[in-house]
Amino acid sequence: MHLNHEQIAFFKDNGYLLVPGAMDKNLCATVRDMMWAALPDGNHLLRDDETTHVGPFPPEERSEDSLHVRDGYRWLNRTLGVTPEVINLIYSESICAMAEQLLGGEMRQAIVEGKPMGSQGPAWPGGPTDPAVSNEGARGVYCTLPYGDVERQPDACHTDGHPFQLGVVGLIDDTPKNGGAFKVWPGSHKRLYPTYKLRYDQPRIPYYDHLPSFKGILHTPEYLEEIGRLNSDTQAVECWGEAGDVVFWHHRTAHMAGHNYSNTIRQAVLADFWKLDLDRYRGEDPGGDMWRDWSPEVQNAGLTYSDAFAKAQRLTTTDD
Ligand SMILES: [Fe+2]
Repeated sequence: MHLNHEQIAFFKDNGYLLVPGAMDKNLCATVRDMMWAALPDGNHLLRDDETTHVGPFPPEERSEDSLHVRDGYRWLNRTLGVTPEVINLIYSESICAMAEQLLGGEMRQAIVEGKPMGSQGPAWPGGPTDPAVSNEGARGVYCTLPYGDVERQPDACHTDGHPFQLGVVGLIDDTPKNGGAFKVWPGSHKRLYPTYKLRYDQPRIPYYDHLPSFKGILHTPEYLEEIGRLNSDTQAVECWGEAGDVVFWHHRTAHMAGHNYSNTIRQAVLADFWKLDLDRYRGEDPGGDMWRDWSPEVQNAGLTYSDAFAKAQRLTTTDD
């Protein structure tokens, strides 16, 4: 698989690109089997009975183990992120070739049976797990249980603070609309990128046991204002689809894990891409051309694509 000019132009303009059928469907099925096989005995979720799939996990089934989280509606298996199956699926030759077309240069390689994300636990007790700490593979297999009969909740976007350059979310099972698929805010990468202090990283406040109230990612006021504007002025694109479909997204693209109002568990593999020399420029000032670390193909790409292509990418334009 090779990205054409239109796909590259669309990615540059919108900060995301849907690529249907980019992953092997049989391998998706194998990874689904592995996800279910890793669920401890006695859990109330029964694979063949969809009525049991509705969340949240009851208190007695909750797991805060950062390698295999089962909490609320989230079921995240990070140990699977370094298995040969998941690495062959999401870091396949063709997906890596597409990522390399966008990034150019020598890419970081995932390590089969390396350290999974979450190996060192969360950033602080009960806090988030940093995807850049001890993560030698993919982030893992991330599932969202159906919400059941609940009131609809508003969408709210965010960006990821850890250093990388290109994200990919691949559906390993068919996911309907409103079924918890990844959501992206088109064009947000161009609006948010200049609001950061650092090109591919973010200042953080360390966590101290004895001073617990102030910690984590430090956002600029400009960033917080722009996130607020994006939530009100931009229609999110939902990356629903079939097993094997992927979406590439820029590091600064605003996104969220969708709410799951379907009857089916949303099952996806999440992974990050970056170039080996990321450490050289991640802390630089974001001024100047935001594409200067990307491939010449991306740098030279125009921002034109057909209306039909934009429609296939689910982009809502003002004249729709
Ligand atoms: Fe995120």
